[in-house]
Amino acid sequence: MIIVTGATGKLGRRIVERLVHRVPADRVGVSVRDPRKAQDLADRGVRVRQGNFDDPASLAHSFEGAEQLLLVSLDRTGQECVSGHRAAIDAAVQVGVDRILYTSQMGAARDSRFQACRDHAQTEDLLRATGLPWTALRNGFYASSALQFLESARHTGDIALPADGPVAWTGHDDLAEATAVILAGEARFEGPTPPLTGPAALDFATVAEIASQTTGRPFTRTVVPDGAFREQVLAHGTPGPIADLMLSIFAAARNGEFTAVDSTLAGLIGREPATFRTQLERAWAN
Ligand SMILES: NC(=O)c1ccc[n+]([C@@H]2O[C@H](COP(=O)([O-])OP(=O)(O)OC[C@H]3O[C@@H](n4cnc5c(N)ncnc54)[C@H](OP(=O)(O)O)[C@@H]3O)[C@@H](O)[C@H]2O)c1
Repeated sequence: MIIVTGATGKLGRRIVERLVHRVPADRVGVSVRDPRKAQDLADRGVRVRQGNFDDPASLAHSFEGAEQLLLVSLDRTGQECVSGHRAAIDAAVQVGVDRILYTSQMGAARDSRFQACRDHAQTEDLLRATGLPWTALRNGFYASSALQFLESARHTGDIALPADGPVAWTGHDDLAEATAVILAGEARFEGPTPPLTGPAALDFATVAEIASQTTGRPFTRTVVPDGAFREQVLAHGTPGPIADLMLSIFAAARNGEFTAVDSTLAGLIGREPATFRTQLERAWAN
């Protein structure tokens, strides 16, 4: 069986939706925190079991019979994140999976300026240490993250954010399809994949031009000093660690950690990945 964690999340759900078009549903299982949210998958013949990263026994039960496990990274940071991943990797080894696949991120490195990329690097080290075959899907930065950063600019017309660098923003749909292709055995990677990215790396000055063209309204780009940005987000009730995490994305982007553009994703899905313009148009259509 192919077991997918996080299958009620935005990426995991899309992966399972695409996977059941490629392999019979009874070869697919999901390990989810709340099985009620996966009832529609159970109705379609997917095995649904409860698996919580904070409860190792539940993980082992939900991974039972897995030949491949897709570990969708947790939405946490630091040791809280890595220890959850460690629990899942240990459970996968315990049940005897043949291969672990993991949703890593482009730029994963011990010395990244972005905390999540340091967590991904640590998790990749854990995978390497299992001695099992493993694949780290080095996913491009989600375009949805850029859209979140643009939320207030959507109304004000001014993209007021810290200094950035080009980022190869990538869509959930394309990443999910590529992951389903790999899980279905139509492509195979050992260790980290090349960066799985959208077709271009854009900074927010270019995004402002795209937003202007898309909406027909002028958009400006204002660089806000890091300290002032931190004060602003704190004033909106954002906790300090989250504010620092957001700032670290800009620091890593300035450092060129998300700039690479690679054709591997296009090769996997058999077409050009969605452009940022397309994703902005879709998101702002309503
Ligand atoms: N490449 C990038 O640019 C980028 C950007 C942001 C995040 N990420 C990473 O990509 C991952 C997937 O993205 P996404 O958009 O699908 O995020 P998401 O929608 O927040 O999905 C996270 C999933 O993790 C599950 N989860 C959280 N805590 C759990 C626990 N204790 N036990 C079991 N499951 C748990 C959630 O379960 P529920 O459905 O029950 O909530 C959800 O299904 C994120 O978690 C994050 O690690 C990558």
